[in-house]
Amino acid sequence: MCTSCAHKCTLREVDICTQLCALGFSLTKDCFFILPVLLGVFPGSPVYSVAWGPDSDRILYTSGRQLIIKPLQPSAKVIQWKAHDGVVLKVDWNSVNDLILSGGEDCKYKVWDSFGRLLHSSLSRDYPITSLSWAPDGEVFAVGSFNTLRLCDKTGWSYALEKPNTGSVFSLAWSADGTQLAGACGNGHVIFAHVVEQHWEWKNFMITLTKRRTMQVRNVLNDAVDILEFRDRVIKASLAYGHLVVTTSLQCYVYNTRNWNTPLIFDLKEGTVSLILQAEKYFLLVDGAGLYLFSYEGRSISSPKFPGMRADILNAQGISLSNDTIAIRDKSDEKVILLFDALTGKALGDGKNLTHKLEVLDIALDQCGPSTDRKIALIDKNRDLYLTTVRHLGREPKICKIGSMLHSMAWNDAANILCGIQDNQLTVWYYPSVVFTDKELLAKTLCIKDGSEFRRAPQILNYVGTKVTLRQGDGSLVYSSVLPYPVLLHEYSTSARWEDALRLCRFAKDQSLWACLAGMAMANRELTTAEMAYAAIVELPRVQYINFIREQPSKESSLAHMLLFSGQVQEAEATLLQAGLIYQAIQVNIDLFNWERVISSFGGCFLAVKHKTHVDTVLAYREKFLQKFGRKETNKRFLQYSEGVLDWEKIQEKIEMELSKERERAANVSVRSSVVSRR
Ligand SMILES: *[C@@H]1O[C@H](CO)[C@@H](O)[C@H](O)[C@H]1NC(C)=O
Ligand SMILES: *[C@@H]1O[C@H](CO)[C@@H](O)[C@H](O)[C@H]1NC(C)=O
Ligand SMILES: *[C@@H]1O[C@H](CO)[C@@H](O)[C@H](O)[C@H]1NC(C)=O
Repeated sequence: MCTSCAHKCTLREVDICTQLCALGFSLTKDCFFILPVLLGVFPGSPVYSVAWGPDSDRILYTSGRQLIIKPLQPSAKVIQWKAHDGVVLKVDWNSVNDLILSGGEDCKYKVWDSFGRLLHSSLSRDYPITSLSWAPDGEVFAVGSFNTLRLCDKTGWSYALEKPNTGSVFSLAWSADGTQLAGACGNGHVIFAHVVEQHWEWKNFMITLTKRRTMQVRNVLNDAVDILEFRDRVIKASLAYGHLVVTTSLQCYVYNTRNWNTPLIFDLKEGTVSLILQAEKYFLLVDGAGLYLFSYEGRSISSPKFPGMRADILNAQGISLSNDTIAIRDKSDEKVILLFDALTGKALGDGKNLTHKLEVLDIALDQCGPSTDRKIALIDKNRDLYLTTVRHLGREPKICKIGSMLHSMAWNDAANILCGIQDNQLTVWYYPSVVFTDKELLAKTLCIKDGSEFRRAPQILNYVGTKVTLRQGDGSLVYSSVLPYPVLLHEYSTSARWEDALRLCRFAKDQSLWACLAGMAMANRELTTAEMAYAAIVELPRVQYINFIREQPSKESSLAHMLLFSGQVQEAEATLLQAGLIYQAIQVNIDLFNWERVISSFGGCFLAVKHKTHVDTVLAYREKFLQKFGRKETNKRFLQYSEGVLDWEKIQEKIEMELSKERERAANVSVRSSVVSRR
């Protein structure tokens, strides 16, 4: 009851009503309807909960049904939105995943991103949500209400529901290691809970944390069960590449899946492990203080460090591991990816960081092939998917876009095949690196699986062998299988078994496999196979080009044209110049109408002039070019060098001479090498 106007208000509206009356508003019955609206914006509205933003530069607080994010810099913009249909009672903000939780009198809890976009809303439960709290690593959160305690995944779905006899749970607090939870209860008790029943799956092994210190391992092939006991509480575990890595508060246990009886055990020197990553060769432990790479024999390998490192807020999206490389998204500038050599822990490429044009959300290193070919896939803020190389030897790396509307991705463990959730459908990039050899082939190497079998925003958990494991928006697991042929094809290509590769493609009769083979063969300069594969997918201009490459008089020229094939113009030109094939280098640029290059670079000299040959050739081609497009010469440089009458016949003769010189030289080389090999 409002003390001023005797209006019947609900408990929380009394304050407002009283204040409005004091300000001279006369509240009639109609006001009852505007009250809820005023509630959200009226400065006197009580604030029930506050939380700090991850960088401690913003505060989130409740105001009636609204949530407000207020930056501490006075000039920065305040974000405010209606979050619930009832008063918001509780908020929390996690610094690892940057997600916001809210719960209110409308009996719902919701997950938001830090821009106020709704990611999940629960159904309306039986009682108002009186408490909620993120686990420190941001993977799960707990929700409390009357006689209810719930554990939820960060995407919102519910793992577990307990109905303790506690009255309303008013406050929840996690232990720092994220395994235990305490709740303040309306009936005067403190409730205490542990997280158990976590599952890990890899190939034929299913592991469950049955008690705080006990795991059960089931081999689904023979139903054999092993029980693993630990001295202390299990805090984190990871199962992949034939190894289970478990950390407790004090120790790390490493099991080989071939033998569950004799784990390797070593003491943890630092704090509580918050993240475990695995590659085939090594595993990485992350704790609040740093990153530590170990071999499965328990040997400490390296510990990458960089200025401003915040190991405490790293999550699986911001870090990736392969046999040879560690990639970390820089938290202070999310466009930047830092790359480290796994073995030494030193920055790759003289500390030259990989910088994308937009903020990066997710990164993943491929797992197979030589370290010099290591690639990283990244999803940026626009949800576009890019691929780039990690070890690029001084050159600016090419960052190529290979997909859009990506929500989740994973590399295969046995071949460099990538899968991703693209706008609710599962897409498999059988050979993503093809984008560096023949961009046009990329679309032909995809396998797109109809998304109708998936419900609501599935996340990819892993892609092992031929099986993709996905978690749907409601928490259920689904599996999708991918044909084994692409993995096999990768194997054949890596070991240069081109006959086997051709046989596989003929057998499978799948255009996407042929497209992969065309790309793989081209990348390995295996022209015969490439020609057959391009012919199979009816890419006739490509077939012709390959023939043209074959007919080149020397190895250098073929190499240059293969580079041109992949759009590497500069590399092609450099190859020719290095081999002293000046005319050929000029011709490449003329063929590409690259007149600027022909006249401008090389320290401002005419490429032709600098090398004192073929000025007339260039001028003749230029004249032909201008004639074709009906234009007059306006370029001062060309005018300056123009020599009056051009003799095409003489030019042709000169060109022919260059080519026969090249042929002769190539023949000399092969004679010499055959002499050497006969010795
Ligand atoms: C790479 O990033 C790190 C961490 O932000 C920074 O200290 C370093 O100077 C950067 N290196 C270069 C070459 O920009
Ligand atoms: C990764 O390391 C494992 C173990 O040393 C090795 O068997 C595997 O061939 C390596 N993979 C690559 C792609 O280097
Ligand atoms: C090829 O070898 C012959 C004899 O050894 C030599 O006279 C000729 O100049 C060489 N040609 C080139 C292009 O090097």
